[in-house]
Amino acid sequence: MKSRAAVLLDGPGKWDVIEVEVDEPKEFEVLVRFSHAGLCHSDDHYAQGDVPAMAYPFAGGHEGAGVVEKVGPGVRDLEVGDHVVAAFIPGCGRCTWCARGMQNLCDNGAYMMLGTQLDGTFRLHTEDGTDVGQCSLVSTFSEYSILPEWGAIKIDKDIPLEIAALVGCGVPTGWGSSVNAAQVRPGDVVVVMGIGGIGINAVQGAKFAGASHILAVDPVEFHREKALELGATEAFVNIAQATDRAQQLTNGQGAASAIVTVGVANGEHVAEAFGAIRKAGTVVLTSMCNVTEYGIPVSLFELAMYQKRIQGSLFGMMQPTRAVPDILELWREGNIKLEELITRRYALEEINQGYEDMHAGINLRGVIDFKA
Ligand SMILES: NC(=O)c1ccc[n+]([C@@H]2O[C@H](COP(=O)([O-])OP(=O)(O)OC[C@H]3O[C@@H](n4cnc5c(N)ncnc54)[C@H](O)[C@@H]3O)[C@@H](O)[C@H]2O)c1
Ligand SMILES: [Zn+2]
Ligand SMILES: [Zn+2]
Repeated sequence: MKSRAAVLLDGPGKWDVIEVEVDEPKEFEVLVRFSHAGLCHSDDHYAQGDVPAMAYPFAGGHEGAGVVEKVGPGVRDLEVGDHVVAAFIPGCGRCTWCARGMQNLCDNGAYMMLGTQLDGTFRLHTEDGTDVGQCSLVSTFSEYSILPEWGAIKIDKDIPLEIAALVGCGVPTGWGSSVNAAQVRPGDVVVVMGIGGIGINAVQGAKFAGASHILAVDPVEFHREKALELGATEAFVNIAQATDRAQQLTNGQGAASAIVTVGVANGEHVAEAFGAIRKAGTVVLTSMCNVTEYGIPVSLFELAMYQKRIQGSLFGMMQPTRAVPDILELWREGNIKLEELITRRYALEEINQGYEDMHAGINLRGVIDFKA
């Protein structure tokens, strides 16, 4: 069948909306019709060339929700009509990482940039038969797409697909950066550096975990306002100001944790966050960077003697099959805000505008509405 899809013909490059041919779902795969897809900054890393894809054309998108249209042979847990959230790491449940309760590090993560499905072959093709790589095995920027059964998490049908889409990446990634990676505890002073689609959810997670002071940092006023609306206690234009404030609040010691969620990270950002934390404090690096980025200019003496911790975090150290229902339950109970995260909706054809708006700082999160 045919589908509209936003693809990169090369990286760096702009998104081109083209018609792709979508294969039938093979064994343990499903065909999903996406209703909404989130414009996460991670897809922009492919467009900017920070992160190369391994197969071009490359159909982007790893945050989305839709409806199962067809199931392939052997699929047991999903049926036609099910509403699903795309999981950009298809946790197998059997590898050593899944068995350790670290489904976010499932060995299937190796496929995230490869472009194929789990059997090593492609499901999307151009009209002339060229293979089209899939982003994270899901390609939520293709209206119709093939997903592994493990990459589609069933949700209740009464949940609006627009907000469910965000639960595929931005919400758990940010929430878990606070709750799991930083291990925010009641009474903590927490700094969140970069209040976009990820950082805003780090703010929400820190609030839920009981942080007494959440110091949001973003150069963009609109993002600081949003942070204050959704749980930050104070907002600053740069981390130096937040560091001063954290020290004022803690008799000179510093924040319990500083979470880095800027758009494109470098070693300086992590070093600045390192300077904001106290003894036995934690810096969390959630942001992606250019793949060639190396080194964090911090004092090794301070790292050891102050017993500081620098913690990487993928998908908020959450387990996709547990995170999606848990976050939606938190939303039902009013403990996390989801509707408030969406600033603008775009038709698929407007995707480049959506990313321009992200760079211009006028979106907290932009969302593709395939019906628009
Ligand atoms: N680790 C993971 O699992 C994971 C998952 C999804 C996204 N990400 C990454 O997280 C990062 C954030 O994604 P997003 O979608 O929220 O991006 P975004 O562009 O929506 O938000 C980034 C924010 O950082 C702010 N910012 C930029 N420089 C800053 C600085 N020096 N100090 C403070 N704020 C600054 C920007 O104004 C913007 O508000 C990206 O690098 C993305 O690739 C990681
Ligand atoms: Zn993402
Ligand atoms: Zn696994």
